[in-house]
Amino acid sequence: MVKPLQTALIHLRSLGLVVPWLTWLLAADILLSLLLPFKPLFPDTVYNLSSHIASSVWRWIQNIFEVRNGAVITMSGDALPAGESAIVVANHVGWSDFYMIQALAKRAGMLGRCRWFAKIQLRMVPFLGWGLWAMGFPLVSRNWVKDKTELERVFKGITERRWPTWLISFSEATRFTPEKYVESQRWCDAQGRPQPQHLLYPRTKGFVTTVQHLRAAPHVKAVYDLAIAYQHGTAFQSAPTMWETLSVPRLSPGQERKKKGKASETGYRFHVHARRFPVEELPNDDEGLAKWLEDRWVEKGEYLEELRVKWAKEASG
Ligand SMILES: *[C@@H]1O[C@H](CO)[C@@H](O)[C@H](O)[C@H]1NC(C)=O
Repeated sequence: MVKPLQTALIHLRSLGLVVPWLTWLLAADILLSLLLPFKPLFPDTVYNLSSHIASSVWRWIQNIFEVRNGAVITMSGDALPAGESAIVVANHVGWSDFYMIQALAKRAGMLGRCRWFAKIQLRMVPFLGWGLWAMGFPLVSRNWVKDKTELERVFKGITERRWPTWLISFSEATRFTPEKYVESQRWCDAQGRPQPQHLLYPRTKGFVTTVQHLRAAPHVKAVYDLAIAYQHGTAFQSAPTMWETLSVPRLSPGQERKKKGKASETGYRFHVHARRFPVEELPNDDEGLAKWLEDRWVEKGEYLEELRVKWAKEASG
């Protein structure tokens, strides 16, 4: 087929996939907004209904990525008990990290219960921002004084109302780039801190605050530490863009890879590795918790390096 025509068809196909989802997102926002006035009277019912609506929105976009666009997500590590509430921390590579974490949440029956730390600027994004706010996502500026009320609002639902939740944050606060890695390394050298491989040094403040507050919630039983990894052709930690996840028809042509016995030039590998730590095994003091997160990041870096070497070997046949 002529190249421009093929490109046009691929874009049309993705619009066909995305426009119905966006329409449902808008409908979900309206439903969520209509629920808001009932929140003070029936907080638990509203939380449950919001979670059902959220679940339908996330399930749909996950389906576009995994089923329609054929992304194969592989998983390893500790089993995550169904229905368990947890504090979730992960490294941040790109938009598709969202699908890696959702794939785990779906398995654990917690998809509708995911609440992500998101940038306050997202509140301004039409449709999406309003919905996130109504669903009770913590929208933060990373200025901890300004964020205090917002965090208390979110923590309160979990500690006082015992709402089942996966409270998810990207501890590096920003996406990994080679430039930011150099910056992180410079900072670690100056501070006498270990620089984790393939990662940025984690911001510990948000994690410490979260653990210290949620210890009061007996149903929040664990911290899940996730390592997210990608490979595109032979490039490690190369993730698709948001539009690619929605538009590329065959993201992981894994079967062909097996037949030819080497990595396809166009295919992506998607992997998420989970570790589960019971909350009561974490240190009690702030300093200890910060160090605990640092240790997890150093280990995550070692894990990613092992995976990189393994995948590179597989790619070279
Ligand atoms: C909300 O859902 C939880 C768990 O699914 C359930 O235990 C609880 O009774 C529900 N609460 C209300 C008010 O519907």
